[in-house]
Amino acid sequence: MSSLFDFENKTGRYTVMGNPINHSKSPFIHTCFAKQTNQNIEYTATQVDPGGFEQAVGNFQASGGKGLNITVPFKQEAWGLVDERSPRADIAGAVNTILFKPDNTLLGDNTDGVGLVRDLINNHQCGIENKRLLVLGAGGAVRGVLLPLLEQNPALITIANRTIDKAHILAQLYKQHGNILGSHYTDLAGQKFDLIINGTSASLNDQLPPLPDNILMENAWCYDMMYAKDPTVFLRWGIKQKATNTIDGLGMLVEQAAESFYLWRGVRPDTQEVIKAVREQM
Ligand SMILES: NC(=O)c1ccc[n+]([C@@H]2O[C@H](COP(=O)([O-])OP(=O)(O)OC[C@H]3O[C@@H](n4cnc5c(N)ncnc54)[C@H](OP(=O)(O)O)[C@@H]3O)[C@@H](O)[C@H]2O)c1
Repeated sequence: MSSLFDFENKTGRYTVMGNPINHSKSPFIHTCFAKQTNQNIEYTATQVDPGGFEQAVGNFQASGGKGLNITVPFKQEAWGLVDERSPRADIAGAVNTILFKPDNTLLGDNTDGVGLVRDLINNHQCGIENKRLLVLGAGGAVRGVLLPLLEQNPALITIANRTIDKAHILAQLYKQHGNILGSHYTDLAGQKFDLIINGTSASLNDQLPPLPDNILMENAWCYDMMYAKDPTVFLRWGIKQKATNTIDGLGMLVEQAAESFYLWRGVRPDTQEVIKAVREQM
């Protein structure tokens, strides 16, 4: 999607809205992007109370803000609030980026999936085409990444989720875009995958989804959307199962931010040095 922003105007105010928001790395990331690309922008974090999201967005726009990111728990509400959506945000049912257009209408996008795909392919040279993918979880993050993953033409995406109905609903929703199935964790035994992407929130509580052993192909990859200083419990499982590569979601975080920045500013920042800088802070 190309930027709708006035590129000549190098100033602008942006924010990320969520609850909680105090640990957000977005202000640091976007400030790095701005310095690097010589854009005079201000990017803050805004804590929003439940029920206060629409008002907070209206206030920010009225005060001259140019756009915002949205994080937990407001991504779905943002989807309902915007006037127009990108196709990837539309199908995801979640918006993580809003651009205030010159006519004051709101354009919503979801950059999580393109962030994941760029991290896998550009930063780690992990092929997706013709590969068998297992995606764990069926919450907001997974909804956001399925279309960009399917656009890379994997042989199959299997979605496994604790609440099986949610996996089936997602498979049904995305089946027009590729080969995709919902599955119980118990039905994974005996199958083999080239790439497993953990999109559950289990790692946040140091828990592991109930995965059977021996489901990795040779040269398989394990990717956890969560990022941490040390390998997550899922990545430690991957190492034990002899995955060739184990990666956390820090690169996805920076890449999704870069796509928002591009939508707002029309400039693509260099993500490598920012990934390194965020990693060093952890
Ligand atoms: N790196 C990035 O840029 C980025 C971006 C977005 C999200 N994330 C990460 O993605 C993860 C998911 O976020 P979300 O917004 O999708 O959360 P969410 O909407 O709350 O969904 C959570 C999912 O995790 C599953 N789950 C939770 N605990 C589990 C457990 N112990 N075992 C198995 N499944 C479990 C849930 O299953 P049920 O449906 O059965 O409850 C659900 O599918 C978080 O770790 C978040 O930090 C990273």
